[in-house]
Amino acid sequence: MKKIRWGIIGTGKIAHTFAEALAGTEDAELLAVASRTQEKAQAFADKFGFAKAYGSYRELAEDKDVDVVYIATPMASHYGDAKLCISGGRNVLCEKSLALNTAQTEEILAYAKEKGVFFMEAMWMKCRPVFLKVTEWINSGKIGEPRCIKADFSNYIPYDENDRLYRPDCGGGALLDLGVYPLTFADAIFGTPDEIITTAQISADGVDVNNSIIMKYSDGRYVSADNGFQLQLSNNALVSGTEGFITMGNWFHCTSEATLFNSRHEEVEKFVCEPEINGYEYEIREVHRCLRQGLKESPMVPHADTVRVMKLMDECRRQWGMKFPEE
Ligand SMILES: NC(=O)c1ccc[n+]([C@@H]2O[C@H](COP(=O)([O-])OP(=O)(O)OC[C@H]3O[C@@H](n4cnc5c(N)ncnc54)[C@H](OP(=O)(O)O)[C@@H]3O)[C@@H](O)[C@H]2O)c1
Repeated sequence: MKKIRWGIIGTGKIAHTFAEALAGTEDAELLAVASRTQEKAQAFADKFGFAKAYGSYRELAEDKDVDVVYIATPMASHYGDAKLCISGGRNVLCEKSLALNTAQTEEILAYAKEKGVFFMEAMWMKCRPVFLKVTEWINSGKIGEPRCIKADFSNYIPYDENDRLYRPDCGGGALLDLGVYPLTFADAIFGTPDEIITTAQISADGVDVNNSIIMKYSDGRYVSADNGFQLQLSNNALVSGTEGFITMGNWFHCTSEATLFNSRHEEVEKFVCEPEINGYEYEIREVHRCLRQGLKESPMVPHADTVRVMKLMDECRRQWGMKFPEE
């Protein structure tokens, strides 16, 4: 089978993790990496065995040998980087959150459609077997009618003015970095809420360092999500229904196990699936499957889902009065 030739833009933390998964994927070829500096690109290429190292993102975006580009830059750069890759005719897997807001997201996705390239938000949670099992349990009625979702994602990260998380010019803040997971999880199960009630602690630099989000539905269902990086939470998820509940513990968005309980709190089933590499292999396989089938978007992470979740995040920031410098 012909290998899928990958390019990576950005050589930060997640690019390293992703490259490890690519290196362990049999039908992936590590073709090119691009950094803002030639030295960093070369060091990354040498470490993982990429054949080409570019000192500019544009060169990679225009490299016709690259089948698909993984964009691993900060949120505020995604809009420009994605458009660069699309204009070069590249297929794209772009890190979450896809952009800063809905307007940017819709523009990127419309441009991808216009140019006929594959485009997917790197929402790896949705490609993982545990997420698929949990949604299967819910859709087959194992917990009756789902009524409530609780999910949190918060890790203590000491203040560092250079860290993209604390920088408004990088699209920082807990919502776009972490909150996107609980909101995507809730959206997949409950869809768009009728009302959002939210509060956040905004730093002196102007990003949300902690936030709390409640989403209400007219039939009484609700979602409660807390996200942040100034306190440590359990990072569990719970989906509760009329006949039982499901727990996903220990970093629910990338956990290897989920447990199904009945309404008497008795364990009914436990699903365990340890990653074969580091957990990113599932989204890589999904991209490969889509490219081989000629799909322009992934049924697992469709464009419409990305847009719906971005709209929720816009509404949260509207309520907090938080804007990025570009807005
Ligand atoms: N899926 C996941 O599990 C996961 C986990 C963590 C992060 N992420 C997402 O991945 C993206 C990158 O996160 P990260 O933690 O890898 O960030 P990071 O360590 O700060 O790396 C980001 C890279 O982007 C490039 N870059 C371009 N413009 C930049 C700028 N203005 N400031 C800083 N770096 C810039 C840099 O690479 P060069 O210097 O080589 O150009 C930098 O190394 C974010 O969208 C984040 O939400 C996803």
